[in-house]
Amino acid sequence: MFQIATVSDYGLNSHLLVIMLTETYVKKRKKDFSVFPPCIQQDMEWFFSEMKDFKGKFKETLLFYPKFANSIQRVLLIGMGDSFEPDAVKFREVGSLIQAKQKDIKSRRNHIYLGNLPFCTQKTIEQISEGILYKQYVFDELKSEEKAPGVEPRYIYVCGKYEYSPKFRQSVIKTRKVMHGVYLARNLANQPSNIATPLFIKDAVVKHFKPFNHCTVEVFDRENLEKAGMNALLAVSQGSKNEPYLLIIKYVSPEAKKSVALVGKGVTFDSGGISLKPSANMHEMKYDMAGAAAVIGAMDYIVNAKPRINVYGVVPLVENMPGGRAIRPGDVVKAYNGKTIEILNTDAEGRLILADAIAFAIDRLKPGLIIDFATLTGSCMVALGDKRAGLFSNSESLRQALYEAGEESGDLLWPMPTDTFYHDDLKSEIADIANIGGRWGGAITAAKFLEFFVDKVTWAHIDMAGTANDIKHFDFLGKGATGFGVRLIAAALKKLNKLA
Ligand code: BES
Ligand code: MN
Ligand code: ZN
Repeated sequence: MFQIATVSDYGLNSHLLVIMLTETYVKKRKKDFSVFPPCIQQDMEWFFSEMKDFKGKFKETLLFYPKFANSIQRVLLIGMGDSFEPDAVKFREVGSLIQAKQKDIKSRRNHIYLGNLPFCTQKTIEQISEGILYKQYVFDELKSEEKAPGVEPRYIYVCGKYEYSPKFRQSVIKTRKVMHGVYLARNLANQPSNIATPLFIKDAVVKHFKPFNHCTVEVFDRENLEKAGMNALLAVSQGSKNEPYLLIIKYVSPEAKKSVALVGKGVTFDSGGISLKPSANMHEMKYDMAGAAAVIGAMDYIVNAKPRINVYGVVPLVENMPGGRAIRPGDVVKAYNGKTIEILNTDAEGRLILADAIAFAIDRLKPGLIIDFATLTGSCMVALGDKRAGLFSNSESLRQALYEAGEESGDLLWPMPTDTFYHDDLKSEIADIANIGGRWGGAITAAKFLEFFVDKVTWAHIDMAGTANDIKHFDFLGKGATGFGVRLIAAALKKLNKLA
């Protein structure tokens, strides 16, 4: 729970008072006491003597127990490094440090003092809250040991000026809505593939969105998909005993003039099919539905936040398995848009289900623009690592808008090329297009393959193979699925309303 208070009305009764200090301040200490809340100023000598070796290095912490202010049980100093200047991760890491300490000492009333920040902004509060909520997340429902019933800690932001409060309150409310979507995405993606089958996700989505106004879920089962002619999607699923589904989660705003479609790759397990993957780390392919999870999580935010734009979440769900009925390398299928695809590698399956889902979404929903989210290629991970997802688009302004939303939200993107000549790699001897290119630039040829099914609609593709799970060195994200994409969409909505 988050609250906002001002310096004058906080003061007393804190189990944990958090104060952030820069290295520069710690070096020059004693010059300026005003950076501390009044209760600390009572005995600065003692306070500074307790600081001992604390240097203020980024993420350095020091916990101590002030004797002079008995209403404050603990003070937690957090080092901020050189400056308070925010970046994509700084305040999220601070939030996660606070949450880790809270969990350790089980403090109920936690005050986060912001009065000393040179800029006490909504962004700061959003990012600290996100860091706290990321760190609070655990996926332990499959552990059988009994969990002690937790008490929800209270976090109280202590700001300098009273006028800030209403805006700051809005910020924490918005953050909680976005993070609710992030939790949903993480919960879905963290489930193992024997639990989170296409059927399981379909049922979970239908149930989840039922109570919301202005929202419907349309379910297409195998028969419907066959009738519609989504043979590329069906080809991927035919080796699995788990039935495929395609979901359309439709949010229709009474005040909307524009609409966007969000498509998420939902391969509940990617064994590679007949083009079987090597066994090392194959278990990570349970995350191959993280794009679908991002779209479902974003739709959760959207039905709660009720923006003035229609948003259609399109979620193809399949399992990619080898077997007697599986698709073979060399097989040719006719996609929803009538184009033929030679499947030269059954492990390039994400683009097959997306080709049908994208063409279907454009044809049936006529969105102003379309964005797909997919753990599409190992090649994108090789290019960008695990911190930034690849951003491809046929529109300069959509690319720019999404790039900016990435910087703003911390779901970071990096632009990748889509020149026409890359398409030549996808030539097939016997069909309209092959599903793989040559050895090099695999993330780009995958994007060009998708573009072939987009036609002229404004489109962007986000290859999140590297950012979907287990990102190293961002402590606030923790283990497993990250929920990447949900915050990005939330941050992009206003901009999309202009572009659609
Ligand atoms: N789901 C994988 C991509 C992936 C790889 C995601 C590693 C996360 C971590 C995708 O379906 C795939 O197998 N892509 C192949 C394409 C290749 C066969 C052209 C790849 O990237 O190797
Ligand atoms: Mn694959
Ligand atoms: Zn895959």
